[in-house]
Amino acid sequence: MAPPVTYLVGGVQHITVMVGWGGGAGLINPPGMGPTKPGFGRILTFAIGGNAKLEVPPFGHKRPPSPAIRMKASRETVRQGKFLYAAFCFTCHGVDAVAGSGIPDLRYASAEVHQQFEAIVLGGARESRGMPSFKDLLKAEQVRAIQAYVLSRAAASAAPPGSKVAATPSQAAGTPH
Ligand code: HEC
Repeated sequence: MAPPVTYLVGGVQHITVMVGWGGGAGLINPPGMGPTKPGFGRILTFAIGGNAKLEVPPFGHKRPPSPAIRMKASRETVRQGKFLYAAFCFTCHGVDAVAGSGIPDLRYASAEVHQQFEAIVLGGARESRGMPSFKDLLKAEQVRAIQAYVLSRAAASAAPPGSKVAATPSQAAGTPH
């Protein structure tokens, strides 16, 4: 979507353009893409008479999102987690726990990450990497509700389309991306 620029270098015309995900596609993370999208953000330069080969980064990921651990939670807890997620997490981790950028898609979180969930979200274990601590805003119980919601989103995304794996009413009606 970025505008290209054209210029002459040593009498040879060049066109340079910034490319990436662009537009709304950047917000969607289809199953199989992986926890973070591959680095498509690049600056490409074309020159008249140029003959370099364009290298395309590998696209896609074999593993669809799926819940890495089991967690006992009531529907009400998952529902609370959904609202808390929408209030505190979606701006970075994506709407409905579908990330569309370089920030991890929590549906893909590994068992290790789930074991450290509270240490990451309340303890600030990843603060130096841009994941803030929410210890002044959330209680441990609320973080567990968010975790249960994230796991329910992973289960819904892993399920084949049309199946009934849905932990919250909106997921039943919504799209498992
Ligand atoms: C300001 C942006 C921002 C917000 C808001 C945010 N996060 Fe994060 N989060 C990040 C970044 C950046 C990372 C990647 C850190 C790293 O590279 O280790 C991350 C990583 C994580 C991870 C580790 C994921 C993995 O697979 O390694 C978890 C779990 C997590 N966040 C949970 C949450 C929860 C729950 C909330 C809401 C309470 C939240 N985050 C809100 C930016 C954010």
